[in-house]
Amino acid sequence: MTRQKNTHWQQSSWRNFPIKQQPIYSDLKKLAKIEAKLSSYPALIYFDEAIKLKKQLANVAKGKAFLLQGGDCAESFAEFNEQNLKLYFQIILQMTAVLMYGLNKPIVKLGRIAGQFAKPRSSDFENINGEEIPSYRGDMVNSITQNTEERIPNPQNLIRAYQQSAATLNFIRSLASGGFASLDNIYSWLNDFSDIAKKNNKINHIIEDIAKSSSFFKACGYDLSAHKDYNSAEFYTSHEALLLNYEESLTRFNPIDEKYYACSAHLIWIGERTRNLDEAHIEFFRGIANPIACKVGPTMQKEELLKLIKILNPENEAGRLNLIARMGANKINEKLPPLIEVVKKEGLEVIWSCDPMHGNTETSSNGYKTRKFDNILTEVNSFFDIHNALNSYAGGIHLEMTGQNVTECLGGTKTITESCLASNYNTHCDPRLNGNQSLELAFLIARKLQEK
Ligand code: PEP
Ligand code: CO
Repeated sequence: MTRQKNTHWQQSSWRNFPIKQQPIYSDLKKLAKIEAKLSSYPALIYFDEAIKLKKQLANVAKGKAFLLQGGDCAESFAEFNEQNLKLYFQIILQMTAVLMYGLNKPIVKLGRIAGQFAKPRSSDFENINGEEIPSYRGDMVNSITQNTEERIPNPQNLIRAYQQSAATLNFIRSLASGGFASLDNIYSWLNDFSDIAKKNNKINHIIEDIAKSSSFFKACGYDLSAHKDYNSAEFYTSHEALLLNYEESLTRFNPIDEKYYACSAHLIWIGERTRNLDEAHIEFFRGIANPIACKVGPTMQKEELLKLIKILNPENEAGRLNLIARMGANKINEKLPPLIEVVKKEGLEVIWSCDPMHGNTETSSNGYKTRKFDNILTEVNSFFDIHNALNSYAGGIHLEMTGQNVTECLGGTKTITESCLASNYNTHCDPRLNGNQSLELAFLIARKLQEK
């Protein structure tokens, strides 16, 4: 069915369109029962929160704020624990302080978390020791365990992912509103990083500068700790909305503005492999009122992008649509400028953010899927330079990262080499920046922007 013949959107109308990257369930009755159960469960976010995020993203679109979006490539049931969540949130808060210093602007914090469980895959099958088994599609679908039985999609995993998302959100909300997110805490964590910063002469003065600004306020007699913003942080959630049956089940009607919201997260995005104009994901997304995002890779054409923007943001609302460019360090200079120019020429209100991860994945000589810190940094730097040259606003970064001390990406000042990769390689999908690498990247961005 084409969209022209069916302009009436419903939360289930995506079911009339071709769809990619979906699990094939054998027990459809069980699946339907689980979808009905999810539909009856409490929404994970409330309409007003999504509306508030959209307003903050409108400030990003206008160049008055900056977006930091980050988290696991794939959340997993195995890595779910309090310590990991604390470490993650701590790094996000530290990066926020550093970016705020570099940009002199508020930072909108958006996690790839509390729903980031389903993965698109390049192939339906994986070869394990000569045997073809179905690919792992994320814990929301099947198990990473390498045997055929465990790779059969299990609808019960949808419920488990929902429950883990609810617990994750609950814990992070409490960290965000309690003293954990106070600036005093953030300054002391940054000091813990100063040993690494000292080794990198590009960033060694920044921690001191940030500490000075805090002492300056204290010396002036301002009791910042009495201020709500000093002790708390606003944090939003996002994920790739790959499994539209999960999204449909958590979509709710807001009687106040009479619009539908995907209540699985504040923002959801469309992945690079499922953004075809005549397919199900675009159909679902056009009807929900949340702020949304779409990945934009090197194959995106100018005309196609304009059509996509018109379908997803017909009212040209600032803050509604975030385009996440994921070109690769060696393609961004060729592929991104024409897209930015055409969007600008048409006067379209979008946020441009940079995912420097997905165009820079490679295999190490010892067989690990990895990414080089230097390529990630090069793509980010090019992103800022291109926007600067075109008088367009570079609105945000989108990272696969964790607070844990993993060894998945190569490089950084506390250098991870190929021989280190095996020691703590835990990702369930793509390689993530570890805590130090994430923070170092934030420092390098801050320095670059301060130099302008
Ligand atoms: C992702 O963000 O994990 C992902 C799969 O990205 P992309 O859709 O850009 O390939
Ligand atoms: Co990924």
